[in-house]
Amino acid sequence: MYTLNVNGVTYQANVTDAETPLLWVLRDVLGLTGTKYGCGIEVCGACTVLIDGQVEHSCVFDVSSAVGKKIVTIEGLSATNSHPVQKAWIQCQVPQCGYCQSGMIMATEGARRAGHHGNEILPELKNVCVCGTYERIRRAVKTL
Ligand code: FES
Ligand code: FES
Repeated sequence: MYTLNVNGVTYQANVTDAETPLLWVLRDVLGLTGTKYGCGIEVCGACTVLIDGQVEHSCVFDVSSAVGKKIVTIEGLSATNSHPVQKAWIQCQVPQCGYCQSGMIMATEGARRAGHHGNEILPELKNVCVCGTYERIRRAVKTL
């Protein structure tokens, strides 16, 4: 059993293997399915979450290492789409299929929390979008 703080809520996660990736705990144990699985090898960024404010790939982050830390997932930004990154994404109609977009938004938010704004955020975004929404992402990020 691991105690996790996710989006300000304390969860008891019934997991036996300390090396279980946080991604599977978020999705399969806690039911927070906004965070997505793409590659599992830290290439695509679909699984991006913030841990103690840092951008992390939850597909390779052991659940045992997440104990005592503050985890923020896409569900934790706002339930009403009122977060600035969510608003920029809506205004610029960024998503196509949407699969990569939770990770894109969380990576963008991580860059903002690191003090980057507007075009400064772009070099921090290494996530992959197979739909090719990069131009709309650039437009949205410029407004932040
Ligand atoms: S699923 Fe984690 S980086 Fe691709
Ligand atoms: S919107 Fe489809 S993968 Fe990015």
